[in-house]
Amino acid sequence: EKDGYPSFMEKEIHDQPDAVGQTLLGRSDEHGRLTLDEIRIDPTLLKTVNKIIVLACGTSAYAGQVAKYAIEHWCRIPTEVELSHEFRYRDPIVDDKTLIVSISQSGETMDTLMAVRYAREQGAMTVAICNTNGSTIPRESDAVLYTHAGPEIAVASTKAFLAQITAAYLLGLYLAQLRGNKFQGEIKDILADLAKTPAKIQEILDNAGQIKELARSMADTKTVLFLGRHVGFPVAMEGALKLKELAYIHAEGFAAGELKHGPIALIEEGLPVVVVVPSPRGRDSLHAKVVSNIQEIRARGAKTIVIAEAGDEAVRAYAEHVFYIPEIPPLLAPLLTTVPLQLFACELATAKGFDVDQPRNLAKSVTVE
Ligand code: F6R
Repeated sequence: EKDGYPSFMEKEIHDQPDAVGQTLLGRSDEHGRLTLDEIRIDPTLLKTVNKIIVLACGTSAYAGQVAKYAIEHWCRIPTEVELSHEFRYRDPIVDDKTLIVSISQSGETMDTLMAVRYAREQGAMTVAICNTNGSTIPRESDAVLYTHAGPEIAVASTKAFLAQITAAYLLGLYLAQLRGNKFQGEIKDILADLAKTPAKIQEILDNAGQIKELARSMADTKTVLFLGRHVGFPVAMEGALKLKELAYIHAEGFAAGELKHGPIALIEEGLPVVVVVPSPRGRDSLHAKVVSNIQEIRARGAKTIVIAEAGDEAVRAYAEHVFYIPEIPPLLAPLLTTVPLQLFACELATAKGFDVDQPRNLAKSVTVE
């Protein structure tokens, strides 16, 4: 069932164009209107939502962090992302105008289940984003938006992550549509851009050779840092998590803007730093700021490995290695920038001789608190 791939993980990385495509399928009409019939919460109630709290753990929480940028931008609803196991132990402010969005591949993660139960007791509306039909979290929620990534066998999450981002974006667009706010006109365009992502993911997969070669050459690495900004920040943390879980290498993801507030002290000769660069077409000159971060760490001897958008020539001067992703609107970039980081971790762990499908000490579904 590995379809000729050496591991389930590698297969599932290659399943991603389909995972995103299937998750989009049938959820909008030809006029560019979202048709999320499965959100069986009264629209008049949904319109009263004044706060969204995303609850999840691990990779699923990073999907939530990515979605926060898009949901707040499109819906103008304050959105928090909280680790499920922290949430209910801090007396959170939740009421009947709070929308809880849980994200769980398995639908059985005990920490997330308990957090959802707690929120429901406080009167919140609950929507589950989940990849497993009929699992416990969706059964205990008011509504469920399934990700259609197909079964994920490898312990480390890959295709579920991209499908979770996709589903959370659809939910955000649906709420924007419901509230009839000023982003109404853009929804159709964003859906059209989302529909183009599977082919772009495929393009990255078809050109995986270069990143895999780099990964194999780095099998003796002890530490890797990941930097990102805006939606690239959670992507950096996801890239670091994949490397920890699979290759047992110390890795950390930072917000690039935080570098000068501490982490830059870690930079030394030869330290590999992966930088997820925002689109040069994005707002607020973030691109220029991150390019100057690359310059700073390069000047201190870091081995700079850069993920940038096709056509971004500005990064070349300071990058030891550049991997280009196809052009994409800035908010959708995580659907692409994550892929080289997954390939990197999978290949590096394989080069070290580890079982990427069953990393040590980990279970696919964490059903204890
Ligand atoms: C990382 C990974 C874990 C899960 C986390 C949540 O590769 O797989 O961090 O993302 O345990 O699991 P779910 O999504 O099933 O609730």
